[in-house]
Amino acid sequence: MAQIGMIGAGSWGIALTWLLLQNGHQVTVWSALEKEIEMLKRDREQKEKLPGVVLPDGAEFTTDLAEAVSGAELLVLAVPSPFTRSTAASLRPYVREGQILVNVAKGIEENTLLTLSQVIEEELPQADVAVLSGPSHAEEVGKGMPTAITAGAYRKETAERIQSIFMNDVFRVYASPDVLGIELGAALKNVVALAAGIADGIGCGDNAKAALITRAIKEIAGLGVKMGGHLETFFGLSGIGDLIVTCASMHSRNRRAGILIGQGYSMEEAMKEVNMVVEGVYSAKAALGLASRYGVPLPIIEQVNEVLFSGKPAAQAARELMMRDKKIEITDDVTWGKRGEGEQPSLDLEL
Ligand SMILES: NC(=O)c1ccc[n+]([C@@H]2O[C@H](COP(=O)([O-])OP(=O)(O)OC[C@H]3O[C@@H](n4cnc5c(N)ncnc54)[C@H](O)[C@@H]3O)[C@@H](O)[C@H]2O)c1
Repeated sequence: MAQIGMIGAGSWGIALTWLLLQNGHQVTVWSALEKEIEMLKRDREQKEKLPGVVLPDGAEFTTDLAEAVSGAELLVLAVPSPFTRSTAASLRPYVREGQILVNVAKGIEENTLLTLSQVIEEELPQADVAVLSGPSHAEEVGKGMPTAITAGAYRKETAERIQSIFMNDVFRVYASPDVLGIELGAALKNVVALAAGIADGIGCGDNAKAALITRAIKEIAGLGVKMGGHLETFFGLSGIGDLIVTCASMHSRNRRAGILIGQGYSMEEAMKEVNMVVEGVYSAKAALGLASRYGVPLPIIEQVNEVLFSGKPAAQAARELMMRDKKIEITDDVTWGKRGEGEQPSLDLEL
């Protein structure tokens, strides 16, 4: 049994609290919002953000950060990305040297182009920062539906400790040393989810959706590897896995906002209608900043930016993607000719 501090009481924070309670841990949930804590104390349910998930015994609720942090073996930072820096800064007086802090938010800070773990490390140099990410909608995790996800950390023991705290027979956790790759996949898939929604909104079909997902993961991997991420991460749970779920599911607020934009709403109108933080909008600009810093083309993400911030009609953006110059699908240093003859290189993947 572990003592956990859950920093953030939105849908993901509460779904993870529910999961951790199933695993027999004690959780102290913190929120910046007094009203939220009152609701949780009274109803043991986040009625606005995750209705239907009632928390069993084992959880305490507080607006006092010191109470959530002291005595906790591990902290989970579950506030939306625009609040990551301010919340991490407020945590500074309370976090112990080497205390594990698992960030579960997804995003890139717009003005600094830092990943969220880099932001947290700036604010909390004493913390052992890790991440947890993958295809995992709160609505399904909170019902005990099977989910697989990746825990990234710099120390193997930290990743393995997170694995054993979170894992159960419906929640499978893989460990990884590639914190950067995991975070880039997580942040950039939100931008592509907007594109997937826009494609739905203008009436594109399944063919277009599949093409978008496939081409987008290549785009994300191109940038991610250049920045130091591991190629395999982008074809793993926190990469292609999260991209698939977010582009296909109506639980995705980014996709829902995209659908409205495809139907003619402005970005502001769509964000208002969805009534939640649409993180892809923030990460879209940051992704372009990274693309120019690292000299990597991001054709889909560029078009999303044009639609969001320059008023380009969504149908025109889709047409321009279709009409790009002819390309060869695989890297062009591969020679032409028949395959399968002679000795083939082996690919020893971890399964
Ligand atoms: N919801 C999911 O299914 C899911 C799954 C995986 C990852 N995530 C990620 O987790 C993060 C949180 O998402 P969510 O769905 O829980 O969001 P949410 O919109 O449900 O949560 C909003 C919460 O943010 C907190 N908050 C509001 N103002 C604040 C402030 N000024 N300072 C600090 N906290 C404040 C409040 O607790 C509020 O309930 C996001 O980065 C998201 O991408 C969400």
